[in-house]
Amino acid sequence: MANVVRDPRVHPEAIIPKLATNTIGKFTEEQVAFVYGSVWKQRYFTKVGDDYFPLPVQWDVGTQKWLPYKVPSDGVDWWRKYYPADNMKRPTGPTCDGCHSVDYNINSKQVAEWNVGCEACHGPGSEHVAHPTRSNILNPGRMDSKAANDTCIRCHSQGRPLTSPIEGRYYDWPVGYHVGLRLQDFWKLEDCGLGQTTFYYFPDCTAHKNRMQGNDFAQSVMYGHGIMCSSCHDVHGTENRAQLRAGEPPLPGGNHLCLECHGSSSPNGPHTATLEEHTHHRAGGSGSDCMACHMPKIETEGVPGAYVHAHTLRFIAPAMTDQFKIPNPCTTCHAEKSTAWAKEAMSHWPEWSAWKIR
Ligand code: HEC
Ligand code: HEC
Ligand code: HEC
Ligand code: HEC
Ligand code: HEC
Ligand code: HEC
Ligand code: HEC
Repeated sequence: MANVVRDPRVHPEAIIPKLATNTIGKFTEEQVAFVYGSVWKQRYFTKVGDDYFPLPVQWDVGTQKWLPYKVPSDGVDWWRKYYPADNMKRPTGPTCDGCHSVDYNINSKQVAEWNVGCEACHGPGSEHVAHPTRSNILNPGRMDSKAANDTCIRCHSQGRPLTSPIEGRYYDWPVGYHVGLRLQDFWKLEDCGLGQTTFYYFPDCTAHKNRMQGNDFAQSVMYGHGIMCSSCHDVHGTENRAQLRAGEPPLPGGNHLCLECHGSSSPNGPHTATLEEHTHHRAGGSGSDCMACHMPKIETEGVPGAYVHAHTLRFIAPAMTDQFKIPNPCTTCHAEKSTAWAKEAMSHWPEWSAWKIR
């Protein structure tokens, strides 16, 4: 999580594409104060006065193409209508920097550090570095599960400050929140209108855009049972994809992680003697991958074809596709089949009720 934002003067290799291949909106390396991103998309920022502004082109990492980076002002993020469509009139301080730095100060526009440094999750650390004890550092690992999850949700969610604007500016991040405080005193998650498709949500309130793991996970049964983001992810880094605590090929991410708490005799379910009896697919095949049915990749990253995993952990029934056009895992994987086929197949599963609609 340490290097989304990079300064090409310090890291000349940070700019992935050759700038000469950009035919959409030329800019030079000298204009780039910061590069944002390297996994899905890369965006470029230039400094004017003491603010940074996005240049109007982005690099799609997956397809290796230049795309325009210009956004209309409605049907998109709530704050866009308060800023002109021209990127050069939209400073990154209110719209980005609070989540891509430690302690962005809205008055001085200075940061303690770019990117998600230790202090973003552990609070101020200089005392602790001088005299390391447990009592002079914050540790989400010793907080109750809600407060611990808040340390992640403050960045991994779509929401807005309780009051807007703040000193004339519209912020897309929880101004004033620090680890140890209550996020709900600073931030509210985007409302979901059940039954409606919006920019942020599918009609069942599953997120359909990226960076909404918090909005999703807070709806899950697991969240209610005290499970934390850090139950599954170790943000200090692991060998596995998405810093999962456990992962085992060939099932991406690995059922291994889920089975630590969902083994066949676990009170947490699924309440079947074997994995096959629960999934109705061959053990070890892709149809027995917990993630395929409970965390489908249906949330867009904002560049064509790139999706991230839903975090509600809900199984989205084929009937939901019929009613609300939400993709269901069965016919996503069995792309040539219909929802009627999937419903018929599930009607033979002894534990599945034919009357269940979601
Ligand atoms: C994105 C949030 C985040 C960042 C950034 C982060 N940590 Fe943590 N840290 C956590 C969480 C959550 C826990 C408790 C769960 C766990 O151990 O993963 C934790 C636990 C720890 C612990 C274990 C404390 C104990 O109880 O034994 C140490 C040590 C630690 N972090 C050091 C660091 C250092 C050093 C950095 C910077 C290099 C850092 N952390 C960056 C979230 C973070
Ligand atoms: C200050 C904002 C911030 C906080 C707090 C934060 N994150 Fe992140 N997180 C980010 C950003 C930005 C990225 C993108 C990093 C990248 O692409 O390199 C990210 C990426 C991730 C990833 C994906 C990494 C990968 O390799 O694909 C995971 C998983 C993650 N964060 C989990 C957590 C968890 C769990 C917590 C709480 C313990 C947390 N984050 C707290 C901002 C934050
Ligand atoms: C509320 C916090 C928040 C705000 C505001 C925010 N980001 Fe992020 N950003 C994240 C998190 C968390 C991730 C990683 C998880 C994800 O992408 O789902 C991320 C990921 C990214 C990535 C993808 C990284 C990669 O390597 O592909 C880019 C690029 C990025 N952000 C740029 C921006 C820009 C530009 C803005 C302002 C227009 C912005 N972000 C605003 C939290 C935020
Ligand atoms: C029950 C386990 C579990 C919990 C709890 C969990 N995640 Fe994840 N997360 C996963 C799995 C599995 C993946 C997919 C990994 C892969 O790509 O194979 C993932 C992926 C991600 C990614 C990378 C984007 C993607 O979807 O591929 C981010 C960022 C992330 N999680 C953040 C979070 C945050 C923040 C929380 C808490 C609000 C959280 N996760 C809670 C299991 C979990
Ligand atoms: C740290 C332990 C832990 C891990 C790891 C874990 N779970 Fe859970 N899970 C739980 C608990 C506890 C419950 C609540 C059980 C109950 O209802 O009593 C639960 C409930 C669930 C439910 C039922 C929720 C519902 O909406 O009906 C599903 C589905 C689920 N988990 C899937 C997964 C998947 C998929 C993974 C792996 C990505 C996973 N879990 C990893 C502990 C865990
Ligand atoms: C082929 C699809 C599929 C796969 C793969 C799958 N599940 Fe499920 N799971 C379901 C369905 C369908 C339900 C019932 C959902 C409902 O009632 O809303 C369910 C329900 C659950 C529940 C809650 C019900 C109970 O019995 O307590 C848990 C827990 C669960 N699954 C865990 C897992 C785990 C762990 C894995 C991976 C080992 C997994 N599932 C793989 C389809 C799947
Ligand atoms: C990630 C991919 C994946 C998902 C999700 C998935 N399946 Fe499958 N399915 C398979 C594979 C692979 C097979 C081949 C046999 C096996 O591996 O068990 C299969 C076989 C089947 C078969 C028997 C063969 C056939 O084509 O008639 C049925 C019926 C079936 N799946 C129904 C479903 C239903 C219903 C769901 C949703 C609850 C579902 N599948 C979800 C991959 C998937």
